Amino acid sequence: MVKNKILVTGGLGFIGSHTVVELQKEGFEVVIIDDLSNTSLEVLDGITAITKIKPEFVKLDLKEKEQVESFFESQKIDGVIHFAASKAVGESVQQPLKYYENNISSLVYLLEAMTKNKVAHLIFSSSCTVYGQADKLPITEDAPVKKAESPYGNTKQIGEEIINDVTKTEGLTAIALRYFNPIGAHESALIGELPLGVPQNLIPFVTQTAAGIREELSVFGNDYPTPDGTAVRDYIHVVDLARAHISALRRLLEGSNKSSMEYFNIGTGKGSSVLEVINTFQKVNQKEVKYKIVDRREGDITAAYADTGLANQELGWKAELGLEEALTSAWKWQLKQL
Ligand code: WQD
Repeated sequence: MVKNKILVTGGLGFIGSHTVVELQKEGFEVVIIDDLSNTSLEVLDGITAITKIKPEFVKLDLKEKEQVESFFESQKIDGVIHFAASKAVGESVQQPLKYYENNISSLVYLLEAMTKNKVAHLIFSSSCTVYGQADKLPITEDAPVKKAESPYGNTKQIGEEIINDVTKTEGLTAIALRYFNPIGAHESALIGELPLGVPQNLIPFVTQTAAGIREELSVFGNDYPTPDGTAVRDYIHVVDLARAHISALRRLLEGSNKSSMEYFNIGTGKGSSVLEVINTFQKVNQKEVKYKIVDRREGDITAAYADTGLANQELGWKAELGLEEALTSAWKWQLKQL
């Protein structure tokens, strides 16, 4: 049987690497493009150690238009999963042009090369951040897209719009997966989240505090209108999230999509507060996390969690791994880093 060949841009990143593993497990042939700006080649070894199949890897910056074009001319690609982007919310506020240049021009050059070479299927890494603070919870896909709180979030909104416009003219079919909060690591602890520098996201800060790398976790605010006052998010195991990409890709390859561009919320459907996360982590790992309550972080929303009905129904996908498994795997991965 001829294997479908899938390009995974940013395939050595946190979500990308877990998706490559799931693609290979499902029998897809994978080629990875990554510029290594926010990861390391060791991730390729980790993937290979898990699946025993070394993915083809091309070090390439998607902002280099000519290199992107010659890549596609030299390959026969059946579909693309596009992760490659800068993704630190705080940094995007300080360096908006870096984010617009990297995230938008990379996407434009990718789309140009795809349409020129008749690569017809795209899965786009989007984010629940497009909803801002949604008016209704759980959040459905028809919740209004609100003015982005950061240039990072804006690049996701703009990215969705660019892709949507291209699908109307170029015969491209696309699915945007709007992730909630990806956490955890592969059960082997051979791949996981590699935050460079001081972690911006909650879980790596929790695991580094538990490991003694960080002195103390700052909990950003306990005066939110939530049961325990701390903000609520939908934390989804990165392996569940990776599997959602396979379901979405199959939908396009089989032609089961109902329009040229579709959007799906990918979460567990369950909200957890910061304090619940800390307490759960301490319980399942029997490890203390020192923390203090500080002021809210600028731009944070009170609560977000997904209505997963559409993804369940149309993609036949549902999160199966819970918060406890995610926090156990995150800690096991952290211990491997010491
Ligand atoms: C989660 C909760 C913080 C750190 C962002 C992006 C989203 C996606 C995930 C890329 C919040 C609290 C955090 C800390 C804390 N990124 N927190 N102390 O902000 O929900 O989402 O990251 O795709 O697009 O918007 O995730 O992990 O930063 O924060 O109290 O040291 O933990 O206030 O309530 P967030 P997060």
